[in-house]
Amino acid sequence: MISMLMSKRRRELEKEKRHGMRLAGRFNAQMMDYIRPMIQPGITTGEIDRVVYEYTLDHGHVPACLNYQGYPKSCCTSVNEVICHGIPGDYALREGDIVNVDLTTIVGGWHGDQSETFLIGEVSDEARAVVQCALDCLWAAIDAIKPNCRASDIGTAIVRVAHDRGFSVVKDYVGHGVGRKFHQDPTISHIPTPEGRRQRLCPGVTFTIEPMINVGVREGVQDETDGWTVRTKDGRLSAQFEHTIMMNHDGPEILTLTKDGPQRGHKF
Ligand code: MF3
Ligand code: CO
Ligand code: CO
Repeated sequence: MISMLMSKRRRELEKEKRHGMRLAGRFNAQMMDYIRPMIQPGITTGEIDRVVYEYTLDHGHVPACLNYQGYPKSCCTSVNEVICHGIPGDYALREGDIVNVDLTTIVGGWHGDQSETFLIGEVSDEARAVVQCALDCLWAAIDAIKPNCRASDIGTAIVRVAHDRGFSVVKDYVGHGVGRKFHQDPTISHIPTPEGRRQRLCPGVTFTIEPMINVGVREGVQDETDGWTVRTKDGRLSAQFEHTIMMNHDGPEILTLTKDGPQRGHKF
């Protein structure tokens, strides 16, 4: 009897989680669609952040990045050679730039986390190719996973696509479980690892896939002054896309799909 009650309670909790995570992912994606038309030459990354902050609060939600481990802004804006965690500020986007905008919102206690890399006007062939590769890597990983698969199936799929095109995959920053906490187990490496081979992605798990793809070397260097911004060691370009995903009994469900953003198979 007790165990029946326990399993009933567990099912209720799982249902609550599924519902909460769907709402969080949906709101986060809606915000990405809202800011998309503003990502143009001339806008500063600080202005993008301001819009994210206000849109989130206007809808009664919480920007997860703001004050997260001391982070000072409501989103990350990573331009050109910045791999991740670029802090919005006075920099005005210019024709030829690529910029990753990473949004995370807390909706009813649950987190939605996603990012896109935007092309600002006409960009170099190299910039276009690395952005294309990052999107293709994300989708190759999504297509590679099924219930109870190994977490390392993600890295295996990503490395195959990236190395095939002569690009490198960042090792030191990873995807992550996401739920009531911003960052939780399991670790989602974008390259295959022994830990990933032991980790199964069972129905009910919610996590991100967020490959960072570099034109040159995979290593990054953290800015000593701001303590956040991670740049490629060789100063060459880096691109990233991220979705929040829930593994269901019948396969992965992408919780952060946008209406207007690049979909599976998009060609830049
Ligand atoms: N959104 C990032 C991720 O995908 C994390 C940013 S943490 C912050 O995991 F503090 F820099 F905002
Ligand atoms: Co993330
Ligand atoms: Co993110």
